[in-house]
Amino acid sequence: MKANELREKYLSFFESHGHTRISSSSIVPENDPTVLFTTAGMHPLVPYLLGEHHPAGKRLTDVQKCIRTSDIDEVGDASHLTFFEMLGNWSLGDYFKEEAIKFSYEFLTSPKYLNIPKDKLYFTVFAGDNEAPKDNESYNIWRSLGVEESHLFFLPKENNFWILGSGVGPCGPDTEMFYDTGKPACGKDCSPACDCGKYLEIWNDVFMEFYKDENGKLSKLSQQNVDTGMGLERTITVLNGYESVYDTEIFAGVKEKLEELSHLKYEDNKKSFRIIMDHMRTSTFILADDHGITPSNVGAGYVLRRLLRRTIRHLKKLNIEENVLGTLAKIYIEEYQNIYDELKRNEEIVLNELTKEYNKFSRTLKDGERLFYKTIKHLENNILSGNDAFKLFDTFGFPIEMTLELAHENNLEVDMDGFNEAFKLHQEKSRTIDAGSFKGGLADTSEASIKYHTLAHLLLATLQEIYGKEVYQKGCNITSERIRFDFNLDHKLSEEEKMKIEARVNEMIQTNTPVTFAEMPYEKAKEEGAHGTFENKYGEMVKVYTIGNLSKEICGGPHVTNTGVLGHFKIIKEESSSAGVRRIKGILEE
Ligand code: ALA
Repeated sequence: MKANELREKYLSFFESHGHTRISSSSIVPENDPTVLFTTAGMHPLVPYLLGEHHPAGKRLTDVQKCIRTSDIDEVGDASHLTFFEMLGNWSLGDYFKEEAIKFSYEFLTSPKYLNIPKDKLYFTVFAGDNEAPKDNESYNIWRSLGVEESHLFFLPKENNFWILGSGVGPCGPDTEMFYDTGKPACGKDCSPACDCGKYLEIWNDVFMEFYKDENGKLSKLSQQNVDTGMGLERTITVLNGYESVYDTEIFAGVKEKLEELSHLKYEDNKKSFRIIMDHMRTSTFILADDHGITPSNVGAGYVLRRLLRRTIRHLKKLNIEENVLGTLAKIYIEEYQNIYDELKRNEEIVLNELTKEYNKFSRTLKDGERLFYKTIKHLENNILSGNDAFKLFDTFGFPIEMTLELAHENNLEVDMDGFNEAFKLHQEKSRTIDAGSFKGGLADTSEASIKYHTLAHLLLATLQEIYGKEVYQKGCNITSERIRFDFNLDHKLSEEEKMKIEARVNEMIQTNTPVTFAEMPYEKAKEEGAHGTFENKYGEMVKVYTIGNLSKEICGGPHVTNTGVLGHFKIIKEESSSAGVRRIKGILEE
């Protein structure tokens, strides 16, 4: 089975069970500073899991683009990917455990759908602890469907309780579905909890009936939800009996191109091939995203830079010296263009940015080499310290492999223990960022955050009044303390311009205008002149928030009910975010 077929089968199965198909959201979460990227299908749906009404109804299904970079250094093995697609179905306060499990089992085993032999499937359920009870109900539902006791495992919270990486938000016990690859058990305790490779998780049904707050306290949500996630690449891998996700047709085009360019075989150079195949795909999706992320030294731009630089290094390992990034990106753009329209729409940007970064990195390599020679001039012995090696890597972006190579040529050793120690510290830091080190986010429905959401609408309306309708929102990032708002504009704001914006936003606030919403098809929202994101598609139901005659935007909410409660708006910083994009940081004061 191919990816296209699995996507369609999944979505149509859930449609036949009353679910509405919705589009994938952006891979950069809107309004959420807790993470750099969308890490799971449920991420964009957090407000609805917390009780907001979704315009498409209570049963939804989609394929969500996701990026997880905490395991970036594992890429190269058979299964790790930094970008993947997650198939999902949701119940927003509608069905719960019984139907969710029945849907999953039917989809997995029915000859009309995946037709997986029942004896190949294993399941885990939550064993319970002092915070949440043992999930006997899910166990009994699996049993009632004919699953043998020997195929069911009770596992603790680390395995069978799901929450976003930030550790705050809707959460709950889950039941996970595993495929037995047929490999021998690694020991008598081998179970789906073990990562020896015998059991591969392909799907997870989360029963979200709890909310975990910032103090770690668990409380019941107002509704019982279901959030599920099936890894697309992983599932087609097991369905086809492949050894690795890189054997699927998704990667075939780039793999073939790399063999052609390098005159080397994938089979003999798996690690470098896989890193390039993975990182190029992720980079293409990040660059094509409408948020306009470009390589930089912070946040998502830094992740992108690391992915691209690692790609270039591995291309060099395969003796490919010229810039082929665009050639590879184009293959992915072709592959996915019918599913994710931003790829073709933003193709030129993608290709330009790839060339720019390639050239920059070539300069870095040259500069790095110079710095290396400068550093070794002052050495007291023939050892380059871990700190020096790390500094070359971290500050100048000079890869450690290059340092090792040059050291070798100059009869020097590198203190790799010292380097690894410094690297580990750095990795822990980036893990924390990936998992969410910031407060706020979509799971934050505090009054303060909601005010900033409404402020975002007034700010966009103001910017459009002043600079014209071509101004649109490139990104928005909210905590309970501030807003960070990106928009397209070709110049730095002067003091007068900032004052004018502040004054107009405050004027809008003081009109005490009610904030209302209506649900309607996307076409109608557009006809009514509502501003929206690129994510929604024709035929979808959307929510439109109206603030008198000041603003009309497609948005999930929630919002305050009257502008008057916002207080006083103040711009605290204005800066460039990327080429042609300005960033305003602002606060609301009492
Ligand atoms: N949110 C669940 C996951 O990502 C389904 O595994």
